[in-house]
Amino acid sequence: MISRFDDFYKLDTAATSYVMRVTPTGHLEHVYYGPLVKALGASDLVPLCEKRGAMPGNASGYKGLSDELDDSFCLENFKSEFACMGKGDLSETAIEIEHGDGSHTSDFVFDSALIMDKKPEYKSMPTAYGIKGANVLCVILKDKSAGLTVRLYYCVFEECNVISRMTILDNTSDSEVLVKRIMSNELDLTGTGYTFTTFNGAWVREMHRHDTNVNSGKHVNESFTGTSSSRANPFTMISRGAGEDSGVVYGLNLIYSGNHYECLEATPYGKSRFVSGISPRLFSYRLAPGSSFEAPEAVMTVSLQGFNGMSLNMHHFVSDHIVRGSWQYKERPVLLNSWEACYFNINESRLLGLAKEAADAGMELFVMDDGWFGERNDDTSSLGDWEVNTKKLPGGIGQLAAKVNSLGIDFGIWVEPEMVNKNSRLYEAHPDWAISIPDRPHSEGRNQMLLDLTRPEVREYIIDSMRKVFSSGNISYVKWDMNRCFTDVYSRALPADRQGEVLHGYVCGFYEIARTLTEEFPDILFEGCASGGNRFDLGALSYFPQIWASDDTDALERSYIQTGYSYGYPQSTYTCHVSGVPNHQTLRRTPLESRFNVAACGVLGYEFNLKEMDKKELAAVRGQVAYYKEHRKLLQFGDFYRGSSLSGLRYGQSYSPEGMGEGNSLEWTIVSADKSEAMHMVLQDRAIPNMGTQMIHLAGLDGDKRYRLTHRTLKYNVKDFGNLINAVSPVHVKEDSLMHNAIDRFYKLDGEDDSCEAYGAAFMAGIYTTQNFVGTGFNDKIRYYQDLGSRLYYLKSKEV
Ligand code: DGJ
Repeated sequence: MISRFDDFYKLDTAATSYVMRVTPTGHLEHVYYGPLVKALGASDLVPLCEKRGAMPGNASGYKGLSDELDDSFCLENFKSEFACMGKGDLSETAIEIEHGDGSHTSDFVFDSALIMDKKPEYKSMPTAYGIKGANVLCVILKDKSAGLTVRLYYCVFEECNVISRMTILDNTSDSEVLVKRIMSNELDLTGTGYTFTTFNGAWVREMHRHDTNVNSGKHVNESFTGTSSSRANPFTMISRGAGEDSGVVYGLNLIYSGNHYECLEATPYGKSRFVSGISPRLFSYRLAPGSSFEAPEAVMTVSLQGFNGMSLNMHHFVSDHIVRGSWQYKERPVLLNSWEACYFNINESRLLGLAKEAADAGMELFVMDDGWFGERNDDTSSLGDWEVNTKKLPGGIGQLAAKVNSLGIDFGIWVEPEMVNKNSRLYEAHPDWAISIPDRPHSEGRNQMLLDLTRPEVREYIIDSMRKVFSSGNISYVKWDMNRCFTDVYSRALPADRQGEVLHGYVCGFYEIARTLTEEFPDILFEGCASGGNRFDLGALSYFPQIWASDDTDALERSYIQTGYSYGYPQSTYTCHVSGVPNHQTLRRTPLESRFNVAACGVLGYEFNLKEMDKKELAAVRGQVAYYKEHRKLLQFGDFYRGSSLSGLRYGQSYSPEGMGEGNSLEWTIVSADKSEAMHMVLQDRAIPNMGTQMIHLAGLDGDKRYRLTHRTLKYNVKDFGNLINAVSPVHVKEDSLMHNAIDRFYKLDGEDDSCEAYGAAFMAGIYTTQNFVGTGFNDKIRYYQDLGSRLYYLKSKEV
């Protein structure tokens, strides 16, 4: 709900309020953002405003067009909604413009405001949708000296406690200006010393959480790869002393897939300023008279219920207002992907062999990854030539898809449409379509170059070739990859003084292609990918309902990566595969059960050679797939809560009644919206000997509901215990001998039974599990819980 009280504007969601006001100088002042505050009139909001009596020494007083100096007011000590450069504000600004005369000062002051029931439509970029009621506030700011207008749209998504902000700059003057920076968001807070949380990493190490206390100076989170990147995700958080379940936490994001910039700055006057938007590095935009520039939509939320409360707001927002199309709430299929089983070495019979195993294991979709087109036998050639290699697939995609379908499962395909290899027919025909600087050497990534998506003819070529691929057979799923960072940025289609527009123009070009194809093929499930999670953001999620979270499928590393994503993105958006051991990225061996348990807390898939798996493992996979399918609605779309975390990740509350083993256990709980069922995942890092019985702590349950906890009964092989068999065997059994193998084949040990019933409150307070193996014997009251061991517990409410 949006209310106006005299000079105040108040934006309320179900649990939060955002207040701003217009000062006598015409500046838009940020007053408050936090838990809901009640107000019946301006007088209820005045106490929230900063009081000003005199200007600090050595600061600059503000003089606007009226030429009157208010000697109690200076922009350096002011919580602003849209900070400008050059009039006394010395912190990060929202805008930097070079005017025709070479000056850089801007002074945007309030002109008018309007409450509306529709968001503006962006031409160049995706935006959030589904606003209800009169929940859009348009504030018009004008820089009269420069003849420029800024429209700020504040959009209130009441039910998920999110406010978004859209910023449009209109050149209402009669001369061109150069936009050097335009931030999408600005949030000025009272106080310094906030913790700025960013999610950084690299390929196969995405989304690691980093906390920085900003007491002075500034901390910048920025991507300069050309995409939103694994180096610095655009999702960030600001908090002070918060835990997973308590404290005020702000969550901030951008609906953008290119270079971005987030900065938290502590100002000299005990305030903190957050800004976010397109990275100003290598960005500039020539704005002609009569034209407008759309800055990416910014998203913010605040919660009093700690990081988990903030995450739930963001999750609901992403599911309900970002992800769109027929797959928005549809359960995602369990797939087998060919990449780690075959890499480039594919042909119809190998693929069909794998697809058959996938179908037998209960999977629902088989995906042919890279290697099916042109002369693509490795990563040096053929990107751009989207025609099937008939030596590998003699009957084309149509025949392969039909054969896969005849096994009773769907067929999907991999593409990387934004790229070209020098070794391709496309490059031979159109070398100028690749981004590179004429007559200068070009640095390549993965032997490939980026196509110049700022050019309409390039976009048309991509749309046309993808249209042909997607229509060449019964294709139900597309994995859209993008495997390199930008270097040598230059478009031959733009003049020298507009090269600062290339990177942003590329992103807008990508959006046009993605929009056209996803609208044309509404039933295909699109999965975004950029060497894993190098373009995991709300812009990509506006077209691709799910994204390959990382090329890293190691269960331990995935537990870090998925925890990172879970702060800002719902689990239905990140895809997680079970792969073989030793793991291809870390060479670590983790139990198959743990690989499954971690992957099951997102969108599950498999990625290894099922044909070479032994029977016991195949049977285990079959059991996993069936279990996941039975509970997938809950696992993909339930409310996600983080509990204790591994020490490498320990930022929230860590439950450890004994204090021992703290930071050794990771817990996630996923709860259905009606709280009638839940799944709890626990993963331990190292087995700690003789540590006493462990507890699990669930979250998000209804304390007054009675639940029954169950889990899959695990079976252990005699060989899992190595030569400990001799502790119980009357005759000596040599390890790995014929006798050892024979006993292993015929004799299985039952895992523990921890099923029980209790009220939700008891499960949340913590319940004991069966005692871990302590080296003094094994029986049905002992659980086998090795290094990187894990369990999945299912709870069902008794009342339903
Ligand atoms: C990078 C992706 O992240 C992988 O999953 C795989 O699709 C390869 N590209 C194929 O080249």
